[in-house]
Amino acid sequence: MIVTIATTKGGAAKTTTAMLLAEAAGRAGHSTLVIDADPQGSATQWKEVAEENGEPIRRYTVTPVNRVMLSRVISKATEEWVFIDTPPGDPAVINEAIELADFVIVPSPVAPEDFNRAVRTLGTTGDTPRSLIVVPLG
Ligand SMILES: Nc1ncnc2c1ncn2[C@@H]1O[C@H](COP(=O)(O)OP(=O)(O)O)[C@@H](O)[C@H]1O
Ligand SMILES: [Mg+2]
Repeated sequence: MIVTIATTKGGAAKTTTAMLLAEAAGRAGHSTLVIDADPQGSATQWKEVAEENGEPIRRYTVTPVNRVMLSRVISKATEEWVFIDTPPGDPAVINEAIELADFVIVPSPVAPEDFNRAVRTLGTTGDTPRSLIVVPLG
């Protein structure tokens, strides 16, 4: 199952959602991969900080992937769960990650402008009802 977490807005909890869902899948006993498709490398940084703090991520793998390699890495992935963390401002990466996904999560804060933006992102995911908006707490 390939799950893309995407919205055009930064700071919307994409990386947090990807990492925590991966942890949950790993704890449930599933082989799990996070693909860090954000050039800023937040998911990769998360992994490195965890290692530095003596609490390395053990239940899933995090790997940085650029847009050119994205479809190739996805096609070769053998994990049961693959979560793709995307950058906020790169439509080419966002669209490709959405195309490759079985399911798309569009996180959105509760403010109306943010919600409208998330709905616009959903509009790019095609006719298949495979998307979900998550409204983060706080
Ligand atoms: N459910 C949540 N409730 C409150 N704050 C959250 C939640 N999820 C993430 N955050 C915080 O929001 C900020 C942005 O999260 P991040 O996952 O980096 O967003 P993005 O990847 O979309 O830029 C971080 O400081 C993170 O700790
Ligand atoms: Mg991020």
